[in-house]
Amino acid sequence: MIKPKYLPAADRYEKIPYRRCGNSGVLLPAVSLGLWHNFGNTDNFENSTDIVLTAFDNGITHFDLANNYGPPYGSAEENFGRILKHNFKPYRDELLISSKAGYDMWPGPYGIGGSRKYLISSCEQSLKRMGIEYVDIFYSHRMDNETPLEETMMALDQLVRQGKALYAGVSNYSPEKTEQAIKILDSLGTPFLIHQTKYSMFVRTPEDGLLNTLKKHNKGAIVFSPLAQGLLTDKYINGIPEGSRAANKNSRFLNKENITEDILLKIKKLNIVAQKRNQSLAQMALSWLLRNDTVTSVLIGASSSEQLLNSIGAVNNIEFSETELTEIETILK
Ligand SMILES: NC(=O)c1ccc[n+]([C@@H]2O[C@H](COP(=O)([O-])OP(=O)(O)OC[C@H]3O[C@@H](n4cnc5c(N)ncnc54)[C@H](OP(=O)(O)O)[C@@H]3O)[C@@H](O)[C@H]2O)c1
Repeated sequence: MIKPKYLPAADRYEKIPYRRCGNSGVLLPAVSLGLWHNFGNTDNFENSTDIVLTAFDNGITHFDLANNYGPPYGSAEENFGRILKHNFKPYRDELLISSKAGYDMWPGPYGIGGSRKYLISSCEQSLKRMGIEYVDIFYSHRMDNETPLEETMMALDQLVRQGKALYAGVSNYSPEKTEQAIKILDSLGTPFLIHQTKYSMFVRTPEDGLLNTLKKHNKGAIVFSPLAQGLLTDKYINGIPEGSRAANKNSRFLNKENITEDILLKIKKLNIVAQKRNQSLAQMALSWLLRNDTVTSVLIGASSSEQLLNSIGAVNNIEFSETELTEIETILK
């Protein structure tokens, strides 16, 4: 049987709010989708496709990738490219696609870091893998202390000038380096669009200066692992389900050892607060981040479209009473 051609939901732009990224012209969906996990060659391509199409049908216009998402490295971009080719051809201009370089990608000294050599060749490779002419945002994935920041920022500036990226961003930079990056990019005439930083109820680092720096310069933040990789959901309350990220022996950043008694107790207590708000814990964890307007978008992952739909529901209630906020802080202490 010939598969019917994909037609996006006609009401897709009525489902999710769009928030301005700092003082730029760019609006991001309050919830964006990241393809770090669940889009590699070891994953089920039909499921990956279903997640991306469900996202777009629900107003998620922003898809975040990096050169080394997979496994194997590069395969998430290739698979996303296949999804684009087969389903999204008429819709490229409705999508905001990002990629990054900074961590290890290929062997040798030019496949890692912040050099102009690495960033420019990696961006070229990402475009080829995805089959697109430009990415909307290209990030320096991390600060490389061995490379002058000017060199890394000039590489981003050059990619923008060449039309290979429309906007520049950084990820995992300290507040001080972020401030410097903003100044360098401004002086080059390629404004700094956005910082991609790890932030959740369990990881509060951006509160130690980064969010203030971004606010001061009127720049946006997109926050990754907002569910602490699935910890801030109800999935681990009754044990570690098969197929979950913590059960996956190859998962480098979340494993059984991370689910301590203390974490579990916090999750259970937070889940009760979420229930009182008529939200799932995942929704409350995302709403809690979105209540801060320096957070332009929460960058979630999902291993199924059901999870994605559940998480998107966060946008329906981002108001918190003082009592709820205090109760949450007490649990998190
Ligand atoms: N810039 C950087 O250095 C950097 C680093 C990491 C990530 N990122 C970006 O951030 C994106 C998101 O990161 P993340 O995947 O760690 O985010 P996350 O949203 O904190 O975690 C996603 C995982 O949580 C579980 N989950 C999601 N929604 C759920 C729900 N409603 N109910 C129950 N479980 C749910 C799923 O895990 P299961 O697989 O267990 O079902 C899912 O794969 C990445 O794809 C990437 O684009 C960037």
